[in-house]
Amino acid sequence: MCGIVGYVSGVPLANAQHTAVDVLMGGLKRLEYRGYDSAGIAVVTEDGALESRKKAGKLSNLAELLEAQPVTASQTGIGHTRWATHGGPTDVNAHPHLADGGKLAVIHNGIIENFASLKERLLAEGVEFTSETDTEVAAHQLAKNYRATGDLTEAMRITTTQLEGAFTLLAVHADLPGTVVAARRNSPLVIGLGEGENFLGSDVAAFIDYTRSAVEIGQDEVVTITPDSVAIIDQSGAPVEGESFEIDWDPATAEKGGFASFMDKEIHDQPQAVADTLLGRMDTEGRLTLDEMRIDESILKSIDKIVVIACGTAAYAGQVARYAIEHWCRIPTEVELAHEFRYRDPVVNEKTLVVAISQSGETMDTIMAVRHARQQGAKVIAICNTFGSTIPRESDAALYTHAGPEIAVASTKAFLSQIVACYLLGLYLAQLRGNKYRDEIGLILGELQKIPAKIQSLLDDHKDQVLDLARRLKDTESVLYLGRHVGFPVALEGALKLKELAYIHAEGFAAGELKHGPIALIDEGQLVFIIVPNRSGRDNLHDKVISNIQEVRARGANAIVIAEEGDTDVEQFASEVIYVPATATLLAPLLTTVPLQIFAMELATAKGLDVDQPRNLAKSVTVE
Ligand code: F6R
Repeated sequence: MCGIVGYVSGVPLANAQHTAVDVLMGGLKRLEYRGYDSAGIAVVTEDGALESRKKAGKLSNLAELLEAQPVTASQTGIGHTRWATHGGPTDVNAHPHLADGGKLAVIHNGIIENFASLKERLLAEGVEFTSETDTEVAAHQLAKNYRATGDLTEAMRITTTQLEGAFTLLAVHADLPGTVVAARRNSPLVIGLGEGENFLGSDVAAFIDYTRSAVEIGQDEVVTITPDSVAIIDQSGAPVEGESFEIDWDPATAEKGGFASFMDKEIHDQPQAVADTLLGRMDTEGRLTLDEMRIDESILKSIDKIVVIACGTAAYAGQVARYAIEHWCRIPTEVELAHEFRYRDPVVNEKTLVVAISQSGETMDTIMAVRHARQQGAKVIAICNTFGSTIPRESDAALYTHAGPEIAVASTKAFLSQIVACYLLGLYLAQLRGNKYRDEIGLILGELQKIPAKIQSLLDDHKDQVLDLARRLKDTESVLYLGRHVGFPVALEGALKLKELAYIHAEGFAAGELKHGPIALIDEGQLVFIIVPNRSGRDNLHDKVISNIQEVRARGANAIVIAEEGDTDVEQFASEVIYVPATATLLAPLLTTVPLQIFAMELATAKGLDVDQPRNLAKSVTVE
């Protein structure tokens, strides 16, 4: 996930209120939430020169560079703030990437899945690459098509037919002052319409200071903007009428994509986060491929134990993973809080695979546990959301989640994408070790592919119900969460979200544990969330949890039940039911967690608390 801005203006520089650099840097500032590993711009001057500046680190580093080495004032340009996927967050890998002898500049958001085969062909044709990015491949491919056609729009159209994966691409060429050409597939891009100037952005935040008129760009469409025209074509080259809309956002919320908080936005990012984490994992023969898995297959075949180490929400993702990995791979799997692991003197050796899960990649407790595991001879795989951070760098292999930057302190989209990455790891090991046939793996992957649309329908159909529930219950002083099987870690995560956001005492329990003590907490009006397993899961579990609902109701509890759509059995016992779309038993946490996130966020909001930055917490815990 990266932020993208494009700008063209016909206003003569002498009369212009702003130059391309002003618009690009202002837009990037608003889009910095999308990534801040590096940033860069390219401008085309009126007399046909292309100038580019780029710098690793936050946008302020680029601003300093531009002050020290300004570009010529101009009215055409593109800008990018990066969230690294292919290639570390360095100056060289920062966008724009140049081709055609430095006359063409390209910026990109997304992942080009077939970049390796395209690169091989371009290398064979004598093209020289300077970065490790997939974007540079797109730049050279576009340059090649431009040389062949002499038309940048047509070259972009052809390029989109040659690329696989997800991308928004923007390009400027020294031959064409006053023109920016762009294309999108599975990545966002909108047009902003001005008077004698036009804009492009990953979202409207990029140009909200200049215009409130915008146009949507459809899937696989190519757009060319000049100061007085906007032309959209589809992949066949036929003209397309874009859908226009007016922006009614308050600029202050623009960075949050129009949402009231980053947390709200990140909850809504979850369909995309899951889809992006699944992207590009299958080869042409339907085999799951994890390119990042650089541990020798013979070692992975010989492991006899998996230990997942993580903290907080990431550890709950590990707990969900344990159910899936043990079931699919038949490898004993433990989950341990990273800060406990090292001091317990755990039995870990060359036959142990340690999986370190971390959104930030900088959690000191997890870093220390990784070091300890490697000292004992174990191989370590990092599941991480932050490219180039310490945990993946210090591990033997890294499987990246592609959730995009998570700004709100409480983890939401990172949690779901960590679970997805764990499933991919489990399926990969099952494939490698022969525990599952290719068609069985294909069926599970097929179910996983349906999850983004299911999260979206859950948000569309049930968010208002949960918001209303949270507002009604804002004076609640204690909440219990019960779950079984994969619903148990979901209960723990629901309780953690409420504690950290709303400062309310909350506890998650395995529902089977209720009668062994916690039931004493149930009193008249006690709020209890119960996550009900689906009926097609483990024998009797569904009915056992329904009995738990009855047990707490009989003692006066306010029982809010989360159940699969169509499970009408729960209605007669629950105070209220929140239905989630049906899915495979092991995948259910990707759906049942979402209402609990919304509940915690809204209850905290109703109490007037800052949901993005709860008290006493920090986004990455870099001390032990
Ligand atoms: C809770 C939360 C924390 C983190 C934990 C690990 O909402 O965000 O519990 O999950 O601090 O952080 P990472 O994943 O960065 O290692």
